[in-house]
Amino acid sequence: MSMMRRLNEPSRRPNETPDISYSSASDVPEPAPPVQAQQAAAAYAGTVNKIIMPPKLANLRKQLRARVLRTPDEADTWHRGEADKEALIAERLRQIIEKLASEKPEFRLNQAEMTLLREAILDDVLGFGAIQPLVADRTVSEIMVNGPQHIWKEQKGLITESEYTYDDEDHILWTAQRIIRPMGRQLNREHPMVDARLPDGSRVHIVTLPSALNGTTITIRKFPEKRLTVEDLINFGSFTRETAEFLKACVVSRMNVVVSGGTGSGKTTLLNVLSGYIPDEERIITIEDSAELQLNQRHVVRLETAPPVPGGDGKTGALTVRDLVRGSLRMRPERIIIGECRGGEALDMLSAMNTGHDGSMTTVHANNPRDSVARLETLVLMSGMDLPLITVRKQIVSAIDLIVQIARLRDGSRKITQVSEIQGMEGENVILQDIFIYRLPGSNSSSPASVGGGKLESTGFRPKFIEKLEENGFRLSGRIFGAGQSTFVKSSL
Ligand SMILES: Nc1ncnc2c1ncn2[C@@H]1O[C@H](COP(=O)(O)OP(=O)(O)OP(=O)(O)O)[C@@H](O)[C@H]1O
Ligand SMILES: [Mg+2]
Repeated sequence: MSMMRRLNEPSRRPNETPDISYSSASDVPEPAPPVQAQQAAAAYAGTVNKIIMPPKLANLRKQLRARVLRTPDEADTWHRGEADKEALIAERLRQIIEKLASEKPEFRLNQAEMTLLREAILDDVLGFGAIQPLVADRTVSEIMVNGPQHIWKEQKGLITESEYTYDDEDHILWTAQRIIRPMGRQLNREHPMVDARLPDGSRVHIVTLPSALNGTTITIRKFPEKRLTVEDLINFGSFTRETAEFLKACVVSRMNVVVSGGTGSGKTTLLNVLSGYIPDEERIITIEDSAELQLNQRHVVRLETAPPVPGGDGKTGALTVRDLVRGSLRMRPERIIIGECRGGEALDMLSAMNTGHDGSMTTVHANNPRDSVARLETLVLMSGMDLPLITVRKQIVSAIDLIVQIARLRDGSRKITQVSEIQGMEGENVILQDIFIYRLPGSNSSSPASVGGGKLESTGFRPKFIEKLEENGFRLSGRIFGAGQSTFVKSSL
């Protein structure tokens, strides 16, 4: 008897009896196949066999998950895997079931059902409900719940649909509340969207009804146990050793660098790697919306935005990236690293870069270096200062030396596709010069390739700021800038 349903089968409405086992209490249930066996059978010919909780057990799970707790928040700081807590909850569940079964025969469960229910309730009460196995799986980097029946995951750069399902909207909300309650946050009609960070550093975004039309949507970017290193990225083929050498020279020589890329393209990871080149004795201030950077230097001040205090006017207690950037200028920073420029802080960052805080870095969301200049212009104009566009453009050109473009290609690999110098202005136009560009073999195109199998080549142009690199002891030879001489690195990830 299968406990799974195929994705392409008609979806069931909440009160319909699905075409799976245990459809009524009078069935004589067969033992359930082990959960791992269900998972192993799940991926089939491009479709996904969904693991769906038998309705009898789903119903019990729904009724009992609150009843195994003394208070709704009793288990907020307990975790899956804590043996004493698991034993405590399992024992309470056993007692409740025993009592129910003595009153009503339909509550009698066989051993397999009891095991399935216990694990499910432990996942709900101590973990993340249906997505607990994905949360526990270290190879999964992102989890996207698009409503009860559709849960997606990213693994090794590839996004696929997973076999797990929530029982219903209530079930997702249970997990959502469990995530945000310990942080003193609320998810309800007044606060239908929450951005938060889990204690382990993972980033969570939750949006619920009425805006989330598929049902409550949870997106978790898991905090990597260890940020990828420069060696990892070179081995993955994200860039070449020559490019790494060049970028190191730029960072040490205090060039102002912007990492540009789309969502999930690897901007933060690259910013982390570049920040790793900052010499140990320099005072670094990092400013992030949710702290993701992991710097190993000793003289680091980490700042993170603060949400407003609950129940206030929506402003009290809040600190934005912009507030923190302004504040940081009074903290004797030698380097300011802003996790992402998304608003008016762009203006403050440019001012800082133009007033002696060289060697600062940030990321922006843009699809190519030219767009990232345009994006910065827009962000500065959003700052509320009434500045003429040309003034803003001049500020950008004088502040930023280098734009490093990263992209997630269709094969799931992440690559630096362009390293471009901002050289200056010609009339009202910004002059950008590619130093490295990602091309397919044999291509001479001036735009980077968007598929795997290419390599990051030097264009043959040396940056205008090369003298500054030389002053800092970096004698980068023709080996790095000579066109076509960069080593080909196998494209693996
Ligand atoms: N060069 C790379 N090769 C393989 N995986 C990578 C690479 N860079 C980043 N990743 C992985 O991709 C995921 C997204 O990376 P990251 O958080 O750096 O992206 P991002 O562009 O900052 O995303 P967002 O737009 O959401 O801020 C992470 O799981 C990370 O480990
Ligand atoms: Mg990021």
